[in-house]
Amino acid sequence: MTQTRVPPSAPAPVLAIDGPSGSGKGTISQLLAQRLGWHYLDSGALYRLVALAALQHGVALDDAAGLGALAAGLDARFSSDPAQPDKVYLEGVEVSAALRSEQCSNNASRVAALPEVRAALLQRQRAFRKAPGLVADGRDMGTVIFPDAALKIFLTATPEERACRRYKQLKDKGLDAKMNDLVKDIAERDARDSARAAAPLKPAPDAVALDTTGMSIEAVVERIQALLRKK
Ligand code: DC
Repeated sequence: MTQTRVPPSAPAPVLAIDGPSGSGKGTISQLLAQRLGWHYLDSGALYRLVALAALQHGVALDDAAGLGALAAGLDARFSSDPAQPDKVYLEGVEVSAALRSEQCSNNASRVAALPEVRAALLQRQRAFRKAPGLVADGRDMGTVIFPDAALKIFLTATPEERACRRYKQLKDKGLDAKMNDLVKDIAERDARDSARAAAPLKPAPDAVALDTTGMSIEAVVERIQALLRKK
């Protein structure tokens, strides 16, 4: 009997959206995923979940091996409802609001610098790649996780604009925020995310850089959709 070889099907396309905190990545990626009918990966939420799990399980933020193990066994679930892409569960408990606190943001940036944690989360992120496509939001989507992404976007905005957006976001969620603290935190996180040895925040050589300062969300989304149509 002869066996017919089935050609391996092409992997689902990925739209990689990287950039610093407050560049609008989250909102823009979620909108794009909804419009395209594609899956959505909020990779930052994974680092935030590791930070939160560390706090809950008493694992110190400088215990690289302990945090790596925690990341490898992370019991996390994301809402599959496209209308609620922000809903996240840790060990069965909804933690969406806790993940967005400033403490969790700062701790996430610390755990994200550890190669042990990044390695433990690698396959988990790649597993989000499913037909018809994936919008992947993070810092190293185009450089490390999906180097073969169909389109790579690197979003930026001035630090002042990013702090303003973050302020509004936190206030809208009823969370406490002070503008001065946010500017300082954003600058510190930027420095840590960009200077770290493991998968630093930087555009892939083939990424399209888009400065969103002063641009509406709609204008950014349309620009990215236009770029994707040309691919
Ligand atoms: O995008 P975010 O603010 O939710 O990310 C939280 C932290 O995780 C941030 O300090 C950067 C880090 N991060 C990362 O190192 N790599 C990613 N792919 C996503 C986020």
